[in-house]
Parts: sequence; structure tokens; C-alpha cells
Amino acid sequence: MTVKIAPSILAADFARLAEAVRAVEAGGADQIHVDVMDGHFVPNITVGVPVVASLRKVTSLPLDVHLMIREPDRYIDAFADAGASIITVHAEAATHLHRTLTRIRQLKARAGVAINPATPVESLRDIADHIDVLLVMSVNPGFGGQTFIERSYEKITAARALLNQARNTGDVEVDGGVDEHNAAKLVSAGASMLVAGVSIFSKPDAGAAARALRQAATGTR
Ligand code: DX5
Ligand code: ZN
Repeated sequence: MTVKIAPSILAADFARLAEAVRAVEAGGADQIHVDVMDGHFVPNITVGVPVVASLRKVTSLPLDVHLMIREPDRYIDAFADAGASIITVHAEAATHLHRTLTRIRQLKARAGVAINPATPVESLRDIADHIDVLLVMSVNPGFGGQTFIERSYEKITAARALLNQARNTGDVEVDGGVDEHNAAKLVSAGASMLVAGVSIFSKPDAGAAARALRQAATGTR
């Protein structure tokens, strides 16, 4: 299976984002994960549309925008215009998920749905064919550097099965506490996109860390 490595710039220096992106590009990253937090859906505030627009100018990699915000429908057009390639909303924050995912696809972005640790995969069954990326949160969203929740392996397997049953070849993404030690097990559980913040950007050479994560995940360089 092809595995996509998605470094999360949440763990990078926000004053030097272009350098962070260049480093992981050189390390073979597949996409850049951007964590948008509103201080309401999650107890933290990060970046918004202007930062996505600025990143769009410094990389041709897909921008994987993870919206940890209430009322995501109010902002998805703006993120698409800013150049987001994947727009992921939280199932817990979207009142009309079918409408939201349909709109994201209309905007020519890939439609992602994230589920918190307490949200069952099964709750997405009736919209499984509308999902391009099913993001399984393996920590409670809001902060980088948290401990991976072990139950997530089973949820990843359930997420892959749910998509397969809908004949959906979309991705299962995992976010939170991903590192070289659990990457291979996550891929064998069914993950095809690995988000990694601290395990990449806390290293002196983020590019080398991205490369090492891929190697750990796939056994290849
Ligand atoms: C957490 C964010 C993550 C975060 C992961 O709410 O969604 O993308 O950056 O950070 P690490 O990899 O450090 O756990
Ligand atoms: Zn994220």
C-alpha cells in the first residue's frame, strides 16, 4: 500500500514556516498538514485562511487542512480559495455532514471527515461514499505531542473496512502521537496517511525525520 507522509506544521516554528515546508519537501513528504483551531471546538487557537494562502505560494505539495473548528461550513469556501487540497471537518462539529462533504467536493478539494477518540467509526456508515479521507484522531485534538491512544489501531481497521464496504478507495489518515515506533503497525492496521508533528519537527533535521518515518512505515527509503 502507498503511504502518504503528512508532516504537521503545528510543531514547526510559525515564524519560519516556509523553511519547515522546504525541509520536509526535501525529505519526501507527500503533503503538508495544517491544523486550524478556533479556541471553541478545541481548547487552543492556531492559524487560519491567510496562512494557508501563504503556504500555497511556497509549496506545490497538497495542503491537508484539518479544521478543528465549530461551524466549518462558514469557512470551507475560503479555505478552498486559499488553496487547500484536502479539507477535513470534524464529524462532531458538522451538523449536516452530507451537505458539508458535498460542498467540499464541489470546490474541487478532497473531502475529509475527522472523528475524535470517543466517536465511533460506525457513525459514518451512511456517508461512507462521500468521504475522500477518513481521519481517525489518535489523541484528543487540540495539541501536539500527546500520547497515542492504543484503541486507535482497531478504529483504523474499522475505518478501512467501512470505506472498503462502500467500495471507496479513499484514505484512512491517522493523527496524533504518530512516530517511527508505531508507524508500521498503523499501516498494517489500515492507515494510508500518517500525520506527524513533534516526531518530525522536534528533530534538528525535519527532512531526515520525514524520511525516517516513511522508512519505518513502509520499510523503504
Ligand atoms: C492535534 C493535531 C495534530 C498534531 C499532531 O490536535 O490535529 O495534527 O499536530 O501532533 P503530534 O504528531 O505531535 O502528536
Ligand atoms: Zn491535525
